[in-house]
Amino acid sequence: MEKLIVHGGTTLKGRVTISGSKNSSLPILAATLLTKDVCTIRRVPDLSDTNYMTLILAELGAEVERASGVVVVEAKKIKSTAPYDLVRKMRASICVLGPLTGRLKKASVSLPGGCVIGDRPVDLHLKGLEGLGAIVTVDGGDIVVNAKKGLKGSEINLMGKHGSTVLGTDNVMMAATLAKGTTIIEGAAAEPEVEDLANFLIAMGAKIEGAGTHRIVIEGVKELHGAEHTVIPDRIEAGTFLCAGAMMSDGLTLDRVVPGHMKAVLQTLERCGFPIQTTKNTITIKPNPDAKGFDLTTQCYPGIPTDMQAQFCALACAINDTSTITETIFPQRFMHVAEMKRMGANIDLQNATARIRGGNALKGAPVMASDLRASAALVLAAIKATGRTDILRLYHIDRGYEHLDDKLSDLGANLERVKE
Ligand code: UD1
Repeated sequence: MEKLIVHGGTTLKGRVTISGSKNSSLPILAATLLTKDVCTIRRVPDLSDTNYMTLILAELGAEVERASGVVVVEAKKIKSTAPYDLVRKMRASICVLGPLTGRLKKASVSLPGGCVIGDRPVDLHLKGLEGLGAIVTVDGGDIVVNAKKGLKGSEINLMGKHGSTVLGTDNVMMAATLAKGTTIIEGAAAEPEVEDLANFLIAMGAKIEGAGTHRIVIEGVKELHGAEHTVIPDRIEAGTFLCAGAMMSDGLTLDRVVPGHMKAVLQTLERCGFPIQTTKNTITIKPNPDAKGFDLTTQCYPGIPTDMQAQFCALACAINDTSTITETIFPQRFMHVAEMKRMGANIDLQNATARIRGGNALKGAPVMASDLRASAALVLAAIKATGRTDILRLYHIDRGYEHLDDKLSDLGANLERVKE
């Protein structure tokens, strides 16, 4: 295992190019299973999660080639069973369930367990596939889906008690592309990554309208063909660098971003008083020593993403004011708080609301990365802190940030990756 040693107290400056979106790449790679033709996906970030997904595709029988961010998949003949050994390593492997069901009318995929950010149910994914006429059972820890007589379009509501489900919407949309008749998904997730997947499916010959809204209409087709697609920029990586820019930079410019995907994040930063300038595909943020605190609540898109909550928590520690953060999507997702407190942060956590009194200097300490975004927040806090911070369990960051340490080093951070 590796750890990251951060020598804090440096100021960042310069430009950083944002990678392709992890959360788009995973379902888009899974969607290549829907056709026997060749698909080419560009700007797939080099991450352990995308690596797992290519391994799962290969295990299912697809030929996969990967070089310089381009993944070429040919899924001529595939199996319907996704092996537990690979699936258990990444919760997002659940998104092969929809394409397997769509193409083969049967699938067996291990049920993902809970994880550190809370209970992660898949009831809505299963409800959606049942709505298309599949019979779903759980047997020996596997989700077993059967639709011998084929899938049939219908009206399905995927709204859950914590809002819409991103991968659940993806799964049902992918399966519905090859169902008979029309499927209407009400309460669909409207995240840009769902729209990106829909655009890839449309390029493959699917008939989809309304992706990017809460009502998606899919008219089933007989088969899909190969296609090429370029993945959208990662708005969570971009948001993480914006928080870094606000906390400790002389000005930071993000290249290859879509500012329109980040309105809630940009508005929150602007309300704090951080000057922001955008062009069609760049965002520049400048520091403000008199920035005000903020009150934010995580929400489904277009609200503040839960995947930005921990990084905003790090930012709040650096603002000389009080901020509050309420988590509504994954209410237990506050593992970073205890670690930040080890660095001297003043955070009071009550249920799913953190009250952060910022402004007191953070001090380096050994800390433990617990999940992907929490780890990124610890890296930000460590650069801001004085002294040395050792961040253990670095593999969490490698799941979802492409070359984060290199990118931060290029901006002036003092980091080293060493064996634990
Ligand atoms: C995706 C993202 C993840 C992000 C999350 C919420 C990917 C690969 N991952 O995860 O980074 O944090 O969206 O934006 O895109 N729920 C149910 N039943 C279900 C499914 C979900 O109750 O069947 C609940 C979840 O517990 C959670 C909420 O719905 O409270 C949203 O989860 P969901 O959008 O499904 O998360 P993922 O798609 O797994």
